[in-house]
Amino acid sequence: AGMRTSLAEVADHPQHLLVEGDVADAALVRELLVEHRPRAVLHLAAETHVDRSIDEPPQFARTNVLGTCTLLDQATRYWMGLSGGERDRFRFLFMSTDEVFGAAGPNEKFTAESPLAANSPYAASKAAGEHLVHAFAHTYGLPVVTINPTNNYGPRQLPEKLIPKMILAAGRREELPLYGDGLQERDWLHVDDCCQAIRTVLRSGVVGSRYLAGADNCLANLVVVERICELLDSALGVGGGDAPARRELIRHVTDRPGHDRRYAVDSGPLRRLGWGPRVDFTQGLRETVQWYVQNPTWTVAAEGALQRRDSAELAAG
Ligand SMILES: NC(=O)c1ccc[n+]([C@@H]2O[C@H](COP(=O)([O-])OP(=O)(O)OC[C@H]3O[C@@H](n4cnc5c(N)ncnc54)[C@H](O)[C@@H]3O)[C@@H](O)[C@H]2O)c1
Repeated sequence: AGMRTSLAEVADHPQHLLVEGDVADAALVRELLVEHRPRAVLHLAAETHVDRSIDEPPQFARTNVLGTCTLLDQATRYWMGLSGGERDRFRFLFMSTDEVFGAAGPNEKFTAESPLAANSPYAASKAAGEHLVHAFAHTYGLPVVTINPTNNYGPRQLPEKLIPKMILAAGRREELPLYGDGLQERDWLHVDDCCQAIRTVLRSGVVGSRYLAGADNCLANLVVVERICELLDSALGVGGGDAPARRELIRHVTDRPGHDRRYAVDSGPLRRLGWGPRVDFTQGLRETVQWYVQNPTWTVAAEGALQRRDSAELAAG
């Protein structure tokens, strides 16, 4: 789901290099490790959209399970060849998700000890990734750390995800399809805070541990979409004439199969390493809405890329 144009700001940075390839391509991964001799591997590559995982589960197993296994295998071979000090300092960071624990109860917060109980094909593929990460640590001693962030939001998120999808549709005054009663709760974490959490786990996380990262900001999807509507009404105007407030565009549609009702995490251990979310949701959402309104070139390109992918899949299927 990545977009080259999202990297425009860092394209010329001397420490940035983009290589486009498949995480399950062992030869390419080996070549890159040998050539660049990294001090750490941060594994974020994944198929990520739950709805797509319901439509085509094998693609998720291929990238998120086989891809993770390939990367772990090659990273382990590379790590074993490092000299003493480099070997001790090396880290393999796996980006998991709060979705691997299944649905949380009304007042429950998942902890690092919560059992994996994934419900969607996406979550199951990420849980399988976690099992592989654990197995490589246990079997070969690979120094791994895992982070399980909650739902991210912020600029440049592809409009297949809830917040950008609703911003763009509401901006155009299209209908806003909301799954079921819209009372499913997610803990929204700004992407900048998530990046800081990754940095903290990489630098200070105890090898072999899993860290959950959330903003203690559980909100129902309906509330989030209503806030987006209000922000757009005040940024773009309600529309004049008889145009209704944008919240009137919300349409409740058949719920996603197996939709988890609630996710919530205990970020205590990560906070004790010095991390804490800094972006207030009200401010972060306002800035995110502004970013999408002010970047139509990016959004047109992103929506075009998603459409081309979907029609290519239709043609192939
Ligand atoms: N977005 C969230 O709310 C969220 C929350 C928790 C965890 N995560 C995890 O964070 C990571 C990044 O998620 P995102 O939201 O940025 O997703 P995204 O779909 O926007 O980006 C995923 C990236 O993986 C790449 N990718 C996909 N298949 C690949 C393959 N076979 N080989 C190499 N690269 C491949 C894509 O090109 C893209 O750059 C994922 O591991 C995801 O599971 C995301």
